[in-house]
Parts: sequence; structure tokens; C-alpha cells
Amino acid sequence: MRALVVRAAGEPPRVTDVELPGPAESEVRVGVRAAGVCHSDLSMVDGTLAPPYPLVLGHEAAGIVVEVGGGVSRTAVGDHVVLNWAPPCRRCWFCQRAEPWLCASTGTPASPRGRTADGEPLHVTLGLGALAEEVVVPQSAVVPVPAELPFETAALLGCAVLTGSGAIRRTAAVASGDSVAVIGLGGVGLAAVYAARAAGADPVIAVDLSPAKRELAHAAGATAFLVSDSSTVRAVRAQTGGRGVDHALECVGRSATIGLAWRAARRGGQVVVVGMGAKDDIVGLGALDVFHSARTLRSSVYGSSDPDRDLPELAADVLAGVLDLGFLVSDRTTLDGAAAAFDRMARGEGARTLVCP
Ligand code: APR
Ligand code: ZN
Repeated sequence: MRALVVRAAGEPPRVTDVELPGPAESEVRVGVRAAGVCHSDLSMVDGTLAPPYPLVLGHEAAGIVVEVGGGVSRTAVGDHVVLNWAPPCRRCWFCQRAEPWLCASTGTPASPRGRTADGEPLHVTLGLGALAEEVVVPQSAVVPVPAELPFETAALLGCAVLTGSGAIRRTAAVASGDSVAVIGLGGVGLAAVYAARAAGADPVIAVDLSPAKRELAHAAGATAFLVSDSSTVRAVRAQTGGRGVDHALECVGRSATIGLAWRAARRGGQVVVVGMGAKDDIVGLGALDVFHSARTLRSSVYGSSDPDRDLPELAADVLAGVLDLGFLVSDRTTLDGAAAAFDRMARGEGARTLVCP
């Protein structure tokens, strides 16, 4: 089958013929119908995350189950499914504490699976490798959703929406009337802006380096848009009685924007790091400031969500017309056009590109 493969850090991804073994015991084969391009994929391409190569990109996707291995009980051929890039084991200490997003078995950026057509061992992003015609994954990595849910929307639920809305609703527990700033308006940040407004937050201040994100910010429901520069913290304070926001979300994955989120939060407020940054990019905070500001710094892994519980709930919201994700799709393409989507993302353009393999 064909898959989008990156061969080394910094090289452009290319559509490549690869071979996947069929589903083993408790695995399933899924035909991918829609897959989003997420910044974590770009971080695998540009080397920020230093995964093993060659690597099949992609981890935000939906499709149809086409084959099941022995002992598969949670899904059947023909089911429409969203892929979960952090399937919990349900047995470890974290899973037992109902924190499946911290499951001890997850957190590896890539794992070995299949071979290239020339026989070279291949790896797949986050256990999926979903920018491909098909994936073979453990049954725990698929979540069945109603067949009426469009594949594009279903794909977005699997990463950008679960992450962005989970960060607002679950990690930060934003309440009606709270003030929120979201820094970084890609698919993840825009989904967070939308969820913040849906939770009744006001103001919802959207911040991005690119002035071209203004329209997208407002389409997602932001009450204000700021181009991030040296005046951003002052501008955020001006809209929050001089204090700063109750919740500042960092959806970029850089120390500089974590610092910006820190300074944009009010005294006693919370800073939620949603972006996945590089190992050697160090966040510096003044010790006196950490004490005096009384802020909380936390991160949101996969929106502090349980995909088995939350993906069907989000799917139901979409079908009920409560969750309208149209604003998140800025481009559509095929596998052959996917490399260009990485270039657009690197330039900070658009929201999500959806790839229909
Ligand atoms: N200040 C403000 N915005 C910035 C800055 C900055 N210094 N640097 C980059 N940005 C903006 C970009 O202009 C872009 O709009 O951050 C946005 C990032 O969007 P995407 O590249 O589309 O990323 P996305 O897929 O939303 O992921 C965001 O979450 O899951 C993690 O690994 C992912 O770290 C990434 C983050
Ligand atoms: Zn992602």
C-alpha cells in the first residue's frame, strides 16, 4: 500500500510503497478515509521529536475496519472508527486511577511496524502511521463511531479536537465567565478557542504570530485576536482588569510561548501547556516570580481525556449539531498532496489540511 514516509530528519516526506503485516491476535486493519496533518507530524519531519526513521507519518484519522485478527471483540469489519494514538492498557497504576492519558504503556513517538518495498524495517507514528491507505493497529486503538459521522470530522476528533477541547474542559476545567487566552492557532489551538467559548468563557483571547489567523480565530469564536509581539501581555492584561487571564493555554510547543502564557496568566491563574516541545528547549522562570505569582503550571496530555469515553461523546455532539467543526478544515488533498500541507504548516498557514488517501 502507499504511505507518506519520511526517511530522515529534515527530508521532505514522500509517498512510498510499504508492506504491513496483516492483523495479528487482537489487532485490526483499518482503511483510512480521512487523516489530518498535525504539528506533531511536522515535529517528526523536522526532527524536533527525533523519532526513528524511516517513519510513516500521521496519527489523526478515521476510517473503516476492513479485517480483524483473532480475539477481536470491540469492533467488526465495516465499523467506522476513529484512531486513538494513546490506547491505554487499563491495568497500570495510572489507568487504575482513571488517568488513562498517562498510561505507562504510552508516550513512545514511533514504534516498528512493517517494511518498505525494499525490505527496510519501518516505524509508524504514535503506533498508527495514519497518513497511509491503511493501518494495522491493536483493537484498543480504534473507537467505533456512528456511520453518519463524516470521516473528516471523525478524523479531527482523534487529535486536534480531543486535545484542544479536552485541555479546556478537562485539564483546565474552564467555567462560564472565566477569562482564557489561547496562544497558537493551529488545529489544536482553534479547537481550544471553540471549546472555551462553548464553556461560556469571556473573554477568549486568541494569540498567534501570524496576522492571517485573525479570521480563523473569530470563526472559532474568539472574542479578541492579538498578533503576538512584545505588547501581548499588556494587551491581555488590558482586557482582564489589569490582572491577566484565569487560564492561559500554550498550543505551540516552545519555551518562548510557554513563557508568554506564564506572563499572560493572572496571579493565582493557571498555565496549561498543550504544545509538545523539544527536549532541549528549556523554560526559564524566575524563582521569586514563581512564588509571588502563585500560578499553576501544568500540561495537558491528549486533553486529559479518555478517548473510549470522550470520542463517542464528541461524535454525538457533532451529530446533534452542538459541535460544528467546519472552521477547522482549511485544505483538502490526497496522499500525493500531503507534503505540501507540511510546508503550509511550517509557514503557519491555515487550520487543518485533511488528506483522503
Ligand atoms: N507565538 C504565537 N503563535 C505562534 C508562535 C509564537 N511565538 N509560533 C508559532 N505560532 C503559531 C503558528 O503561527 C501556528 O498558527 O502556532 C500555531 C501552531 O499551529 P500548527 O502548526 O497548526 O500546530 P497544531 O497542529 O495546532 O499543534 C500545536 O500541539 O499537539 C501539539 O505537537 C503539537 O506542539 C504542537 C501543538
Ligand atoms: Zn496530533
